This record gives sequence, structure tokens and C-alpha cells, in this order.
Amino acid sequence: MEKENVYQSYRHSKEYSFWEYTCAKERYQKIIDLIPQQRKIALDVGCGSGGLCLMLAGRIEKVVGIDVSKILLSFAYRRSCDEAIKNVEFVNADCENLPFFNTSFDVVTSYRMLHHLDPDQAIPVFRSIVKPGGCLIVFDFISEGNRHKKPLWHIMESFKDFPTYYKRYGFKAAFRILKFRISKSWLCHVCSDELLSESEFRNIFLKYIPDCQFIHSFNGVIAVWQTGKSLNFAPGKIKS
Ligand SMILES: C[S@@+](CC[C@H](N)C(=O)[O-])C[C@H]1O[C@@H](n2cnc3c(N)ncnc32)[C@H](O)[C@@H]1O
Repeated sequence: MEKENVYQSYRHSKEYSFWEYTCAKERYQKIIDLIPQQRKIALDVGCGSGGLCLMLAGRIEKVVGIDVSKILLSFAYRRSCDEAIKNVEFVNADCENLPFFNTSFDVVTSYRMLHHLDPDQAIPVFRSIVKPGGCLIVFDFISEGNRHKKPLWHIMESFKDFPTYYKRYGFKAAFRILKFRISKSWLCHVCSDELLSESEFRNIFLKYIPDCQFIHSFNGVIAVWQTGKSLNFAPGKIKS
């Protein structure tokens, strides 16, 4: 299947944003819970339609979200206006060429976007923009084998989620999300993702951040690095 950049299409960005706004809060809460108190400035790399930025803005004085997709950022901006959230700013930038200085942020997050980058390039950059005393929190999907390369696997997962979404968000929302997830262009996009296995994910972080720690979350892993402070589980180990 040929890769299509769904985030440059208005229709797909709109449907992706709807899915994200409807379902992602619970997932983002896991990230929010890892952030130490009283942090002043956060950056969310590859913020998409901004759901995580808006939740971070409830905890942190100033939040910056960056993304290469102007369309997704326009949804993020509109939502921040609708919710009258003023301490968040969205910047259209490529994180491979970040417009920030080293050690600029107390908190750096990135949610399900590392697989769009070369991790050998991205992880040292993420690390370099965390202030001393700050933290880096990166979630990404992981895949053992190649099941995520098969459209049928995604279709089955989408149907499996339908009853839960129906119960939580109603038929209309659940059907809209299902229709998007089984659309040809979305399937082409997700089937062409290059995902790391759990051990590859862990090893690539440990290569650049030896005291990084890991937590299982949904169908992926969160890498957590708190500079100069350890969590209540051992570096390198995966906590469920
Ligand atoms: C799967 S989406 C995740 C968006 C958001 N973090 C979320 O959890 O919904 C991946 C995002 O990464 C962005 N992206 C991909 N490559 C990027 C790059 N080099 N710099 C900045 N953003 C990028 C895409 O535009 C897209 O918004």
C-alpha cells in the first residue's frame, strides 16, 4: 500500500482530530500524571490537533506545541480558542530543525510520533532541549512482528473498539471513528508505519539516555527521563 500523508489532507485531519478529541484524554492522563509539580514551560513535539497540549496547559504555566501539519495546528488553535485556553501556543515547525535553543523546556513530551522520525537523530535532540531538573516523556506504539502492516489487523482492531466507543461516546461518534479507521487512506498510512519492537524502543533510548525508565501504556511504551531524579522503579526496566 502506498503511503499518503493524511495530516496534509483537510478531510483526514478533521476526522483524526475528532477521534483524538473524543478518545485520547484517558491516554494523555497517564502522561500528565508523570509530570512533576510546578513546571513552568512545556513543549509537545508533533502535537497534531493539540489534545495533549490543552491538557498540559491545565498543569503548566506555558505550553508550546509544534507540528509540521498546518491543518492539524489549525484544529488545535481553534480548540484552544473554543476552550478559552490562553497559555498555549502552536508553532508550525519541523522537529528535525527545531527553532529552540538547548535546554529550553522543563517538560518535553511527544505522543505517538517518534515513528515518524529517525530515533537516532530525534532522541539526542529531545534530550538536549530539557532543562536541568526537567523531564522528557515520549510515548510511541510498539509492534512485535509485522501485524501492524496488515490492513485486516487494523480493521479487526477498529471493530473490536466499536462497542466500547459506542457505550462511551454514542453511536454517531463511534460510527464516525470506525469509518475513518477503516478508510483506505488511513489504512495505507498506518500500514506503512515503521514501528519499533519493545526491545528496540528501550535500547535506542538507553543508548542516548542511560537512566531512562519505561512504562507500558495501551499498545505502546512510555519512555520517561527525569533529569537528576529517579522514579520508583529501576532505570532500563519496564513497568506495567
Ligand atoms: C500520529 S500523529 C500524533 C499527533 C498527536 N501527538 C496525537 O497524539 O494525536 C503524528 C504527528 O506527528 C507530526 N509530525 C510528523 N513528522 C514531524 C516532524 N518532522 N516535525 C513535527 N511534527 C511531525 C504529524 O504531522 C502528526 O501530527
